[in-house]
Amino acid sequence: MEAEPLSVDAAPVGAADITESVIRRFDTCPDPRLREIMQAFVEHLHGFISQVELTPEEWTAAIRILTATGDITDAHRQEFILWSDTLGVSMLVDALANRLPAGATESTVLGPFYVPGSPVRGFGESMLVEGSIGTPAWVHGRVLDTEGQPIAGAELDLWQNDADMLYAVQKQEGPEDHLRGRYRTREDGTFAFIAVRPVPYPIPDDGPVGRMLNATGRHPWRPAHIHAIVRAPGFRTVVTHLFDEQSEYLDSDTVFAVKPSLLRKFVERSADDPERPAGITGDWVSLESDIVLVAGDGGAPIVDSGRTA
Ligand code: BEZ
Ligand code: FE
Repeated sequence: MEAEPLSVDAAPVGAADITESVIRRFDTCPDPRLREIMQAFVEHLHGFISQVELTPEEWTAAIRILTATGDITDAHRQEFILWSDTLGVSMLVDALANRLPAGATESTVLGPFYVPGSPVRGFGESMLVEGSIGTPAWVHGRVLDTEGQPIAGAELDLWQNDADMLYAVQKQEGPEDHLRGRYRTREDGTFAFIAVRPVPYPIPDDGPVGRMLNATGRHPWRPAHIHAIVRAPGFRTVVTHLFDEQSEYLDSDTVFAVKPSLLRKFVERSADDPERPAGITGDWVSLESDIVLVAGDGGAPIVDSGRTA
């Protein structure tokens, strides 16, 4: 039997009818959360396209950009996270998911350079696996609960860039464990490690995200920071940064990740400073920073980098 021809009344006619018709198509979605997400997504996507009166040429360009994003993404390069970060989506999702009590260490972006399975290192040990022209840094502090009580056995999973601006994972040659490591707090909640003073760096900008930044007059730079994921049984995991308060780009971080509470002071010290730790030679810097965790269950990184050890 031949299908009834679509009556003119039933066919979408204008922009608003098209939007309404697509939204209604999800009315029967059995999962209420998925239905809510898809209907709001269609409403806002159509609203955006209508608002800017997107042309066919612009939509074709957008599809080319999405295709290029997929093409450049692999086990070493995650261009989708870069879109999420540079459009402020990562920080928005983070803000909605992490409404923390005052005094708790705030969260920020994970970024694409986290690799699980860093080597476990002892109290005060160095994260350097090869030489560096950077300034040695002695970083220490305590992990505390919101009452100020020390948390013993908390894990700090750390990674940072070297003075050449690169993370170990970005370099084909060179030791993969350079400037990354996992440390445990002692009974009194204390931790310490030797690092180098981190430097500002541009996010990878040779792909579609870089072309967006360039076309829109934005720069690709991030202010200097050390990354940390801090975990402890019975507490919410925090994904955070220790920012150098003297760094450039604090007021224009290309991924919007700076929070005032995460700024930290690197104190410049001379080689003959009596507090110079064993394992550091020459001029150095020190950084003291406590981390405050909120009681609760584990939690997860805001955006999984997709990398494996
Ligand atoms: C990072 O801090 O490693 C990072 C964060 C977002 C985009 C690129 C890099
Ligand atoms: Fe970083």
